[in-house]
Amino acid sequence: MSQAQIITDRQNREFWEELCGSSLARSLGIKDHYPESLQRFDRAYLELYPYLGRHVPLQVFRGKKVLEVGLGYGTLGQKIAEAGADYHGLDIASGPVRMMQLRLARLGLEPKTVQGNMLSCPFKPESMDYVVAIGSYHHSGDLAGCINETHRVLKKGGSAFLMLYNRFSLRQWLGRPKDTLRRLCSGQRPSPAETPLSAEQKSRYDSSLTGEAAPETVFSTISQLKGLLSHFNRVCFHKENCDDLTFRGRVLLSRKKLLPWAGPMAGLDIYLRADK
Ligand SMILES: C[S@@+](CC[C@H](N)C(=O)[O-])C[C@H]1O[C@@H](n2cnc3c(N)ncnc32)[C@H](O)[C@@H]1O
Repeated sequence: MSQAQIITDRQNREFWEELCGSSLARSLGIKDHYPESLQRFDRAYLELYPYLGRHVPLQVFRGKKVLEVGLGYGTLGQKIAEAGADYHGLDIASGPVRMMQLRLARLGLEPKTVQGNMLSCPFKPESMDYVVAIGSYHHSGDLAGCINETHRVLKKGGSAFLMLYNRFSLRQWLGRPKDTLRRLCSGQRPSPAETPLSAEQKSRYDSSLTGEAAPETVFSTISQLKGLLSHFNRVCFHKENCDDLTFRGRVLLSRKKLLPWAGPMAGLDIYLRADK
């Protein structure tokens, strides 16, 4: 492993100790982890991402070995466990692991959740029926490495459900039109003329309660992902999620109204299913 990757892993371990979703929790006035507080968090989380159930089909998980990577506040992990899966969780930071263990213990389930790095995934080859990773691989510092480990731990016939940030989202087109166009024209490969994302731009995706941006964030294009996932049998993609459309601080069109059409056209997030 390179020195740069070792540094990224350490930064990720520290940064994500604060649970992803802490800003949402704060906006709801949630300060503890009592069951009713987590229920309130989960309701808000699922209202924010109403399409999640279409891309992570809980009903297929019953009785199957499912690995979730990148646990955050644990809403989805709890849903997967409640759906009857043999649930396993993995996160590089200890905070999300503790949160998931708390949730599983409350369900009376064995807390099969470990702190570890997806880049050296601590599970045997062909041991999982499903892998779920929503919004985590693009922070790892090695997207290809995470995808390869996903392929390794999946059984033949198993599937991965992933979410990664879209390089060609409406947010990128409106916020960085020149760079986005340059990227499109350069055959979607990085163009030398592109300006790197500023900390402010990065923090619009994931930031801590103090406004600090995640240590590492990369965007993907569907054609790039097709290449990275070429060892899978079949892959399908959908785009979702968007911001309010604003002009000089005024909301012209709300996210809620835009979601049904701007999401699938130029969404912030690429959801994909990859079958091995
Ligand atoms: C943006 S959060 C997403 C959490 C959750 N899936 C959600 O959608 O709310 C990213 C998560 O990925 C985890 N993560 C980042 N790099 C990782 C790695 N190399 N291995 C395992 N987990 C990692 C972080 O610790 C963090 O909990």
